Amino acid sequence: MLTQTPERQARPRRYLMCRPTHFTVDYAINPWMDPSQPTDTALALRQWESIYRTYLRLGHTVELIDPVPGLPDMVYTANGATVLDGRALVASFRHPERAAESEAYLAWFREHGYREVRLAGHVNEGEGDHRLVGGRVLAGAGFRTSRAAHAEVGEVFGYPVVSLTLVDPRFYHLDTALAVLSDDHVMYYPEAFDADSRSVLRALFPDAILADRTDAEVFGLNAVSDGRRVLLPETAKNLAGRLVEHGYEPVPVDVSELLKGGGGAKCCTLELRPA
Ligand code: ARG
Repeated sequence: MLTQTPERQARPRRYLMCRPTHFTVDYAINPWMDPSQPTDTALALRQWESIYRTYLRLGHTVELIDPVPGLPDMVYTANGATVLDGRALVASFRHPERAAESEAYLAWFREHGYREVRLAGHVNEGEGDHRLVGGRVLAGAGFRTSRAAHAEVGEVFGYPVVSLTLVDPRFYHLDTALAVLSDDHVMYYPEAFDADSRSVLRALFPDAILADRTDAEVFGLNAVSDGRRVLLPETAKNLAGRLVEHGYEPVPVDVSELLKGGGGAKCCTLELRPA
């Protein structure tokens, strides 16, 4: 328990989401996906709607990109781009199954007045592997985004980039292992990172909330915070308690069906950071 719980401030956000109209699991590009298991698109849609409505109720703005038939992973918009200061660096996906999403995101950003829109020159899975916190970008590598992409992100946006290495295939994107809670506070699952990355994280965030294995395995780190309210899976019970101790308001959501594709609330949410 902290001796003094800091007062947490919510800030209105702008998000990009994509309805899971074509949601299914018919290929496996991460350990959570099992094409032999049935999926329920109607249930995925209900769970997605509930996340969407929650953002609106909390006062956030949500923009929508049209789902494309044959691209079932498009619901995970966090992978579509990294958007900082009104500029969009659109993803270049690691797997051919998702490659065609880049075109849809490029078109969306061009049509929505972004002053700079470019396609990443290296394998780069967008905000799924790049999180802005404390004036720097934490960048994940190991399974999806390439290390060369980290340098490109630094050049394009002009922020210092801290490279972190993911080592557990179940936590294949940075946003499955670490969540940004406020402008300078995070929670993460240390075991998802190699030893060097763990020391870097310890030094940068001495007061971080550390998740245990149970919470990490239900995708508790795949959480979206507006600075105060934190959407996270309803199954991440310990983590919800820790968030309360640190002055946050957990907002539990059911993401069981969306998890079959290997993504939770955060994967379904791309933050559009204005200029
Ligand atoms: N099936 C998708 C993939 O493997 C899930 C992406 C989850 N997104 C995320 N930001 N972690 O690419």
